[in-house]
Amino acid sequence: MAGPILQAKDLVRTYEVRQGMFGRPSPVRAVDGISLTIMPGETLGIVGESGSGKSTLGRMLLGIDPAQAGEIAFDGQAMPKLGTPQWRALRAKMQLVYQDPLAALDRRLTISAQIAEPLAIHGLVPLEHRQTRVAELMSAVGLRPDQADRYPHELSGGQRQRAVIARALASRPKLLVCDEPVSALDVSIQAQVVNMLRDLQEENHIAMVFISHDLKVVRNIADRVAVMYLGRIVEEASSDVIFQSPLHPYTRALVSSVPVPGRPLKGRTILQGEPPNPANRPSGCAFHPRCPMATDICRTTAPPLRAISADRTAACHLVADSAEPVAA
Ligand SMILES: Nc1ncnc2c1ncn2[C@@H]1O[C@H](COP(=O)(O)OP(=O)(O)O)[C@@H](O)[C@H]1O
Ligand SMILES: [Mg+2]
Repeated sequence: MAGPILQAKDLVRTYEVRQGMFGRPSPVRAVDGISLTIMPGETLGIVGESGSGKSTLGRMLLGIDPAQAGEIAFDGQAMPKLGTPQWRALRAKMQLVYQDPLAALDRRLTISAQIAEPLAIHGLVPLEHRQTRVAELMSAVGLRPDQADRYPHELSGGQRQRAVIARALASRPKLLVCDEPVSALDVSIQAQVVNMLRDLQEENHIAMVFISHDLKVVRNIADRVAVMYLGRIVEEASSDVIFQSPLHPYTRALVSSVPVPGRPLKGRTILQGEPPNPANRPSGCAFHPRCPMATDICRTTAPPLRAISADRTAACHLVADSAEPVAA
């Protein structure tokens, strides 16, 4: 069996953030010791509220945001330093798609020119075959041939994101990091773009990290899900396990906030309290001020992420060493 396409160990990223206009800069741990393994062709969903460090983690996995501590291996090789020729060579194999397609595209270039760009930069397709490859890519993402000569502002948001995805696929990546790729799109378009991404990823056997605050979207696409809270993973398991029997109280609250047709609203856990503020990390388990089950140990001691069953890790003092959900 092939090894992981990406392996990250104990990643840490701290930003110096000023609190208020006259405050002194203080360190904010956006990513606080995260380890991940992604197999070829697999989709890992990363969920968590805004500010939990998802985007920082996504950039770190591609080496765009350098890790201050920890290690990343891409396809068995240590991630080269940002901007080096070795890193640039790897960039063809790992691509980022983020929320805002208009910012990702160059407004002065036509759609076809932008999709052709990586083919030229990485010297992937000889000039005489480039137009054919661009046409193939446009068709793969559902853009019409007559849209080739359009400029980004002449397309809808959904079409622009399709163009960004076509460009990301041009270099035949092995890993795609998608950071809230449909969050800026109309709800009616979101499912279309997610389904398209899933089909393309399966056809081309691309591993994907799919970051979203929206669990409905992640459920649709992820094989496995990691739940983040204040820079750490608090639970990780297959998508089915996370959505059907979440264990961590935070995961349970997130999952129960997703409407499921046919499931009654009663019995839902509502997330209480303030959303997480990374500049002011609570003692012990960072989730304890919002946790309906918190006890003394939760206030004083951070729970380590540990294996609960063959397919699940969780960081919670109250979760027993078994696959059974704790009673609420
Ligand atoms: N470039 C930056 N400079 C300073 N702080 C940052 C920067 N990027 C992110 N942060 C902080 O790191 C934390 C995590 O942010 P982010 O990774 O964007 O989370 P998410 O994508 O889950 O919303 C937040 O507190 C955010 O304010
Ligand atoms: Mg983000």
